[in-house]
Amino acid sequence: MPHTFVIFGASGDLTSRKLIPALYNLRRKGRLPEQTRIVGFSRTAYSHEDWRKELAETTAKFTGDNFDGELWEAFSQQIFYQPGDIGVADDFAKLKAFLEEIEGGGDATRVYYLSTAPRFYEPAIQQLGAAGLACETCDCKRRVVIEKPFGTDLATAKALNESVHQHFAEHQVYRIDHYLGKETVQNLLVLRFANSIFEPVWNRNYIDHVQITVAEEVEVGKRAGYYDNAGVMRDMVQNHLLQLLMITAMEAPVKYAADPVRDEKVKVLQAIKPMSAEDIRRDTFRGQYRGYTRHDGVEATSRTATFAALKLCVHNWRWQGVPFYLRSGKAMSCRTTQIVIQFRQPPHMLFADGPRTAADSNRLVIQVQPAEGIQLHFETKVPDEGMKIRQTDLDFNYRREFRGKGMPEAYERLLLDALEGDASLFARADEAEAAWAIIDPILESWRAGDKPTLFMYDPGFWGPEECTEWMHGQGREWFDSCPVLK
Ligand code: BG6
Repeated sequence: MPHTFVIFGASGDLTSRKLIPALYNLRRKGRLPEQTRIVGFSRTAYSHEDWRKELAETTAKFTGDNFDGELWEAFSQQIFYQPGDIGVADDFAKLKAFLEEIEGGGDATRVYYLSTAPRFYEPAIQQLGAAGLACETCDCKRRVVIEKPFGTDLATAKALNESVHQHFAEHQVYRIDHYLGKETVQNLLVLRFANSIFEPVWNRNYIDHVQITVAEEVEVGKRAGYYDNAGVMRDMVQNHLLQLLMITAMEAPVKYAADPVRDEKVKVLQAIKPMSAEDIRRDTFRGQYRGYTRHDGVEATSRTATFAALKLCVHNWRWQGVPFYLRSGKAMSCRTTQIVIQFRQPPHMLFADGPRTAADSNRLVIQVQPAEGIQLHFETKVPDEGMKIRQTDLDFNYRREFRGKGMPEAYERLLLDALEGDASLFARADEAEAAWAIIDPILESWRAGDKPTLFMYDPGFWGPEECTEWMHGQGREWFDSCPVLK
């Protein structure tokens, strides 16, 4: 069955930086379904050739050593461009005619990828529906991939879901979160559910708390205009961090398929009670890096948080009483995404030397990026020094273990899954809404009041010092560690 991948917002940055390089890499690896055509749709008046030429340059830049001119030449013959405006119904009629023409009038699976500014998601869906581009038959599939952010709060996410469902059934809808495309995030499922040694200790009996950190060294840069409206909660926490939390905390699904996996993920969100004003004052933390307001597009008086930390509790049998600390920020010490499973102290101390605090106790560190791997920290006797004890680790590193096998870009896996109809790594409607239901009260409370204070922090550290103290106040310590890239 031929496939057609239609990109709305084709002249945008995401298309050239991520989508086309990912499709090219899939083709290079021989994974793209036979007869996959790519059609770009946006207002810029390109010809097919203009667009191909521009994409040749950007793809060469973003795929580096993997770019092969000859292969690109062959691949680019399947790339087409159809100019059009999302606001103009006639342009959708033209798009339809063009798709039918290149598909030769036969059946084809189509994936419509909304890579536009979020305000165009709804009009694009309506136009696709009105033009008859959404309905599918059993031979002929129609799917829509929707980029983040999916709404800006619960009400807008619900409205968007309703609008989408007027034309697309839920099984046709793929809400993308590129964190789920990362190898190490999928490996967390494997770590938990393809091994038997972790499950018995993966619960409140053995785990003191969990830390999920997504730190970025970069500042907001050119995206300041967008970012100042979004802030770290909408940009990172509502989606990427909650996804990591769900995968860390979920129960084993009955099988690895889209609905069983997503059923278990949603249950985790449902077990997190929306926070009260008091919880928010006590258990959330926000910061802004010094110099943020000098970026073009940011108001001088902006109170947008570029750093957030929160303590969430998952109220179920497995996790009752185990806090999940989530934290994310721009302009931090280094780029690192890590999940730290901090185990409890041994119940009875035999050795004067430790472990004396929870922070000295066993720890499983899942390095999501950039030093992809896993470390298990444990106490070891220092040789020839009495009963002196030191923390050592068992270290699994992806690049060392799978030498010669590069880590693919997250989009490769996700685009292939969308083409093949596997929605396991995409968010379902109820999941997107449940995530907003957790975030909304926090944003609302932050907007309305001054509590918690917006703390300033210097770029290049781990966020506001007060956040370190906040953690100490709970008898715990952030695992502030930059990955060692070997
Ligand atoms: C995006 C956010 O979704 O994720 C960006 O909008 C952020 O602000 C990016 O920089 C981080 O992605 P990654 O894959 O580099 O961790």
